Amino acid sequence: MDISVIPPEIGLFEAKPPPPAGGREIFKLRALRDFTLCFARGRDFDESLRLALMVVLGTCSIAKGALFLEEDGEFRVQVSRGLPPGIPPLEESRNLLMSLRRAVRPVCVNRRATAAAIRKAVAEVERAVPAFPVEYLCPLGTKNGPLGFLLLGCPITGEGLTVRQRETLSVMASILSSYITNQRVVRDMSRLNDVLRFQVQENERLLEGMQEIYLDTIRALATAVEAKDPYTRGHSERVAKISVSIAKGLMLPEKDIQAVRIASILHDVGKIGTSRSILTKPSSLTAEEREEIRKHPRVSFDILSEIRFPYPNVALLARGHHEWLDGSGYPDGKREPQIPVGARIIALADAFDAMVSDRPYRSSLTLLHALGEIRACLHSHYDAGVARMFFRHVRREVTGELPDGPVLTGLVKGYSRTDAVEFIDRALRELGPN
Ligand SMILES: [Fe+2]
Repeated sequence: MDISVIPPEIGLFEAKPPPPAGGREIFKLRALRDFTLCFARGRDFDESLRLALMVVLGTCSIAKGALFLEEDGEFRVQVSRGLPPGIPPLEESRNLLMSLRRAVRPVCVNRRATAAAIRKAVAEVERAVPAFPVEYLCPLGTKNGPLGFLLLGCPITGEGLTVRQRETLSVMASILSSYITNQRVVRDMSRLNDVLRFQVQENERLLEGMQEIYLDTIRALATAVEAKDPYTRGHSERVAKISVSIAKGLMLPEKDIQAVRIASILHDVGKIGTSRSILTKPSSLTAEEREEIRKHPRVSFDILSEIRFPYPNVALLARGHHEWLDGSGYPDGKREPQIPVGARIIALADAFDAMVSDRPYRSSLTLLHALGEIRACLHSHYDAGVARMFFRHVRREVTGELPDGPVLTGLVKGYSRTDAVEFIDRALRELGPN
């Protein structure tokens, strides 16, 4: 314990001659100044209380004392001086609480006028610690009620406390009560903060769990659709990964990224209404069959419109995944400004994955071939900003900067890294920096 805060002029346990008349106020002020320093210098609550008790005892020239604090229906010794450990707690009786509330100043416990509940409590302490004859009780509390009390032994001068010492003790008790109240508020706030932090973490965990269940349900729905066409197995999940990487690269808001993710997984859900024979037909489609298959974005929209997604425009994004910037797409023939960015992203990711996958009517294209198709249709089909982000992403995967990325994972046909980088760099130069 750092006892350097104890003012040397107070002299803890020495009987001192009374200060000269003019010096009494200075003595009192210094004692209070040093008393308040205890709370700034103590490393923790208990040490501050221990220092404060030492200053109180020194000010009153008393060798033994204990500070009791109310906790869970009892008054327990928080710190003591000159006493053995193990002082039992005192029961917080109604009478004792009322007596402490009334005792606004330090009381001499041996007076007949002292409340019976206080005398009873003191007697209990003295029975437990016979070497601690209690002379004074100094109540601690606020207008809300008692916080505890100080029990002080006999002054070593053999005389009672002077009026000034009692006054000083009263002020110290008020300061001590404020400090204890403040510390309890801080402690309660800290506990509340811990509880809140725990609840927030718990909620986040629950939310993550629900998010996973939610995504699993969405995936199950997509898988059910893909089961009609074995050639498209895993297509939705791959499109979702590519789309999300582009959306993140374009720094879309988090809710829009999540909307892109869900719409990508479910973009072809409308194919649930398309005949399996059309989906798996190994030769080119007739005009009628083509018309049939071109209905699926609208059906996707109708199905998804019935679902209340926590993200905006999921149904609209799915509806727009076959729209081209020049208005030649379907189902609405929308042009550039009317097609949402999310739909432009899914359109490119969908087309790329379809190109590099085997289909019943053709085998998969090479990476360079697919990239060439996208480059050839820039501005007419694909958004330049989306394509730029896509090419940058593919480059990072090709060079190994981004291993296990969504674009190259699952690519059936090989490619030349040098050729791919050269091609992508050329495409990026054409696209410009932004
Ligand atoms: Fe589609």
